[in-house]
Amino acid sequence: MGMCAWLPAPGKCLLVLGLKLFFLVPAGVPARSGDSVLKDNITVRQGDSAVLKCSVDSKVSRVAWLNRTTILFAGSEKWSLDPRVTLMENTAITEYSIMIQNVDIHDEGPYVCSILTDKKPKSTKVHLIVQVPARITNISKDITVNEGSSVNLFCLAVGRPEANIIWKHQSPRGSQKFVTDVEHLELTAITKEQSGTYECIASNDISNPDIRTVRVTVNYPPFISKARNTGIPVGQKGVLKCEASAVPKADFEWYKEDRRLLNGLNRVKIENQGKQSLLIFFNVSEEDYGNYTCVAMNTMGMTNASIILYGPGAMHDVNGTAMAPRFSLGLLLTVTLFYLLKF
Ligand SMILES: *[C@@H]1O[C@H](CO)[C@@H](O)[C@H](O)[C@H]1NC(C)=O
Ligand SMILES: *[C@@H]1O[C@H](CO)[C@@H](O)[C@H](O)[C@H]1NC(C)=O
Ligand SMILES: *[C@@H]1O[C@H](CO)[C@@H](O)[C@H](O)[C@H]1NC(C)=O
Ligand SMILES: *[C@@H]1O[C@H](CO)[C@@H](O)[C@H](O)[C@H]1NC(C)=O
Ligand SMILES: *[C@@H]1O[C@H](CO)[C@@H](O)[C@H](O)[C@H]1NC(C)=O
Ligand SMILES: *[C@@H]1O[C@H](CO)[C@@H](O)[C@H](O)[C@H]1NC(C)=O
Repeated sequence: MGMCAWLPAPGKCLLVLGLKLFFLVPAGVPARSGDSVLKDNITVRQGDSAVLKCSVDSKVSRVAWLNRTTILFAGSEKWSLDPRVTLMENTAITEYSIMIQNVDIHDEGPYVCSILTDKKPKSTKVHLIVQVPARITNISKDITVNEGSSVNLFCLAVGRPEANIIWKHQSPRGSQKFVTDVEHLELTAITKEQSGTYECIASNDISNPDIRTVRVTVNYPPFISKARNTGIPVGQKGVLKCEASAVPKADFEWYKEDRRLLNGLNRVKIENQGKQSLLIFFNVSEEDYGNYTCVAMNTMGMTNASIILYGPGAMHDVNGTAMAPRFSLGLLLTVTLFYLLKF
């Protein structure tokens, strides 16, 4: 609009215009009611474009847009060096609007459209609010610890409004439950039940929550969960099963009395399948009957359980366990009988 056309030096022009605008745009509250209008806040997401609208009429002689107290546009002249700020072309003659592209959080704040009509200054204030979807910026790495140690997990998130954090724990058995709603999750004296996946959910209603997970592995020594006395008649194939829970996975050894059984020797095969170890007899003979020990071990420790292989006389006790509260008299007699027969 050539407001400074009469001045030779652009520097001076800036100064003069700056001073003029200083009068046009009183900082803070309006001098008289009706001089300044606070429009509704404009809310945009980070990265989007914001359009700041200002109505003008034919009586308006001077207009400017300011970011706080910095002039962005004076008439059609651009003062801002920011390439993201443009004057909206092709808008109605009664509109003097600017666009800010790729809005960032620093752009948040008051913007003022300053108008001079019949020598009366008027301003429209717009508050630009920048929203940022909740996003997790850093989270603990997957971790492996020994049972009983302490674990600190963190989940850092950004967002405007501030992101809410929720931690959920998904146990190895699949049940999920809420743990806490703070960035730092502390697990003191961790148990094996506390192993599994920890899910951090960051949300602020601007968009879908951001979810990331941390896997916590808890090492613990083996405990034998299944070691069942088993009855197999002579001449048949049979299997003794030993099952141990352990992290890391257990290694197994089998003994008969004090003698270690090796795969392929002693007419047995040892087969390990995940948590289980199988002692396989291809063709049970009478001297196979007796007391076997399954030993399960890992870096955290070792344990063992006894398993009796017995003959037809005690077949009814097929469900008895090695830990033996239900150990039947019949079985004891059978075992004893076999021992006697051996010698
Ligand atoms: C505009 O935003 C400001 C700052 O966030 C707030 O104080 C004010 O209440 C909001 N006004 C409206 C009309 O929403
Ligand atoms: C508005 O002013 C702030 C503070 O000086 C600045 O960081 C931001 O980049 C400015 N935004 C625009 C669109 O001019
Ligand atoms: C995440 O946090 C860890 C631990 O505080 C730090 O070492 C790492 O540099 C951070 N990573 C990023 C991308 O900020
Ligand atoms: C099992 O062993 C017995 C005696 O050692 C033998 O007579 C029998 O044929 C064997 N059975 C099988 C299926 O190998
Ligand atoms: C089997 O052997 C273990 C130890 O080696 C012993 O504790 C257990 O009592 C024995 N069981 C029977 C039925 O003899
Ligand atoms: C089984 O465990 C007992 C007690 O923990 C131990 O005394 C024994 O030597 C173990 N047996 C084997 C074969 O490791």
